[in-house]
Amino acid sequence: MSTENKNEKMEAIVSLAKRRGFIYQGSEVYGGLSGTWDYGPLGVTLKRNIMNLWWNYFVDSRDDMYGVDAAILMNQKVWQASGHVDTFTDPLVECSNCHGRFRADKLDAPNKCPTCGKENTFSDPVQFNMMFKTVVGPKWGAVKAQQGDYIAGELAAFDGNGNEVKNTRFSLRKGSDFDAAMLYDQNAESYLRPETAQGIFTNYKNIVDSFYPDLPFGLAQQGKAFRNEISPRDFIFRSREFEQMEIEYFVHPDKWQESFEALLTDIHTFLDMLGLPKDMVHELEVPEADRAHYSKRTIDIEFDFPIGREELLGLAYRTDFDLGNIQREAGKSMEYTIKGTTEKFIPHVIEPSFGVERALMAVLSSAYTEDEVNGEKRIFLKFPEHLAPVKYAVSPLLKNKPELVAKAREVYSMLKKKHGNVMWDDNGNIGKRYRRQDEIGTPYCVVIDFDTLEDNTVTVRDRDTTEQKRLSVENI
Ligand code: GAP
Repeated sequence: MSTENKNEKMEAIVSLAKRRGFIYQGSEVYGGLSGTWDYGPLGVTLKRNIMNLWWNYFVDSRDDMYGVDAAILMNQKVWQASGHVDTFTDPLVECSNCHGRFRADKLDAPNKCPTCGKENTFSDPVQFNMMFKTVVGPKWGAVKAQQGDYIAGELAAFDGNGNEVKNTRFSLRKGSDFDAAMLYDQNAESYLRPETAQGIFTNYKNIVDSFYPDLPFGLAQQGKAFRNEISPRDFIFRSREFEQMEIEYFVHPDKWQESFEALLTDIHTFLDMLGLPKDMVHELEVPEADRAHYSKRTIDIEFDFPIGREELLGLAYRTDFDLGNIQREAGKSMEYTIKGTTEKFIPHVIEPSFGVERALMAVLSSAYTEDEVNGEKRIFLKFPEHLAPVKYAVSPLLKNKPELVAKAREVYSMLKKKHGNVMWDDNGNIGKRYRRQDEIGTPYCVVIDFDTLEDNTVTVRDRDTTEQKRLSVENI
């Protein structure tokens, strides 16, 4: 597919997602907030269907997995011990002409500013920490104005090598500007978690003490993660607030390879369940130089998104890096004793880490289909039935015939009791209803007509083939 076609496809998906109530720009009514997205009724159902499928497959249907749901705010020591305070950074450059700031390793042209087009205007890269910092509790106060209503000062910026690159004089008025001079207790500093993984590691000992699991076993968590991305982009692909579905799978250090392979197979099974075509899913063995500091082996699972081949999720061998850090920094033993023996060790960890938004974007883009029906272009989302946000749409053929409406309501209630996500749709003519339901990926449209009143049969129209069948109501 050409770049132009790829961009067109991406734009068509973003536009459909907004038009049909899947995904909206965050805070749009106020002009938006970059890197944030809000989910509408269909988006939230699709997202939950994906998350529930994951939970069902990786947790509920296994007996070696335990679920946890840890707090998003955690003790600052978690992020110091994990290395995030020191190393969770991306390289940032600033253009000296337009002062645009960019992620140095994601520039299309390394020396050309994507905003103003000037060349060789970038500063040396500085390491920008992506964690959102916050203060827990009322542990802050403002600097008091010393003279009159103003305080004055200077703000300097440095290039990462100690050289001053920018110096801004400021004077703050009492009132709205005052937060800029806020002071806080460093011990109250915390972060919005940049990964859910640490909430699992900090609960490892609790689960071992409560459930006495045999090795290998896993702890699973789903939840929000936050990263102050320098350049959020590509719709929900790289955002500042997103959700992760992560497993930390604890293994005997000598047996990590077999669990790594088994989880890799499970990942592919799950991606099949998402309906992702096998030939669009690729494994990338990440070379040592590109691996995260904690990983001895990583396979990135990449997907052919409309924006190109990009990371969908990762599978990493984290060794005993995290539990070892906790044992050292918290001074508490993280060792596991093999039952009935005296063999003790810190377990090693295999981590499958999924991003919900990337899974959702892969599902949306592989479901997005265009074809022609009766000489007219048709757009439809070919979701697997178990992911479709609406399973059935029910309509009376004519909405001004009370007897049809009453019968249709009866069928609607029956299906809703049985399947939950069923939509009542009597807007516009039947052709328009079919088009609308195709665009939101509803597998079946059920239409109640005058024959229904006679023989209790309805028309069931299939989204993918557009074929219509006559079925009795009990057999839908
Ligand atoms: N605990 C390991 C970890 O967090 P990661 O590769 O940094 O590893 C895991 O992130 C997954 O989270 C990625 O494969 C991706 O699916 C998702 N992810 C990471 N950053 C993201 C972002 N800014 N926006 C959306 N999803 C993101």
